[in-house]
Amino acid sequence: MYVAPSILSADFGKLNDEITAVCEAGADLIHVDVMDGHFVPNLTIGPVVVKSVAKIATKPLDIHLMVDDNTFFTNLFIPLKPKFLSFHIESENHPLRLIDHIRKNGISPGIVLNPHTEISTLKYIIKEVDLVLLMSVNPGFGGQKFIPSIIEKSRELRELIYKTDAKCLIEVDGGVNGLNVAELDEAGVDIVVAGNYVFSSQSYKAAITSLKL
Ligand code: DX5
Ligand code: ZN
Repeated sequence: MYVAPSILSADFGKLNDEITAVCEAGADLIHVDVMDGHFVPNLTIGPVVVKSVAKIATKPLDIHLMVDDNTFFTNLFIPLKPKFLSFHIESENHPLRLIDHIRKNGISPGIVLNPHTEISTLKYIIKEVDLVLLMSVNPGFGGQKFIPSIIEKSRELRELIYKTDAKCLIEVDGGVNGLNVAELDEAGVDIVVAGNYVFSSQSYKAAITSLKL
């Protein structure tokens, strides 16, 4: 299991130290939540702050857009060269065009599904993306409760990947902790995002290690 700490739960007053600490504690990716106050009822950070995160991080960035205007935000973040750049299927009319645009810029495209969005919506997209991110909370805030039906949904996605011979990774985001990670692993999940669980722990290293099954 790869672990991507979400910096949404970090102490933004000492963001550089927080990034360095999770990188040294074994993070595989740094998960960055970008919210526009429209698609979700919260507002986070833009390219100015993420640029300084990219400078400090020794692990690749995993950018999660939660925005209405995906093309606008994608173009803001392309110059920062994240490993993954993912957007929500619910807010995009032309996902295949945007996936193509992200890939042409040398970045791995990802698609995100809200908890209620069916896996079947991915049928004609799955082979074009490098990552599918399944939300296990309603997006917008850290520290929420894990929605258990995501376990079954992860299995369904694993099945679709197998059937279509797609190559994408499965990432789960929201409410992940040391208690539910085993079930996610068993369901075929490759990457977990963890915000509150990591950043509220006494030892980042112990928390991250407990997620690496
Ligand atoms: C929620 C974000 C998550 C969030 C996860 O909209 O996409 O990445 O920070 O935080 P926890 O692990 O605290 O649920
Ligand atoms: Zn996220």
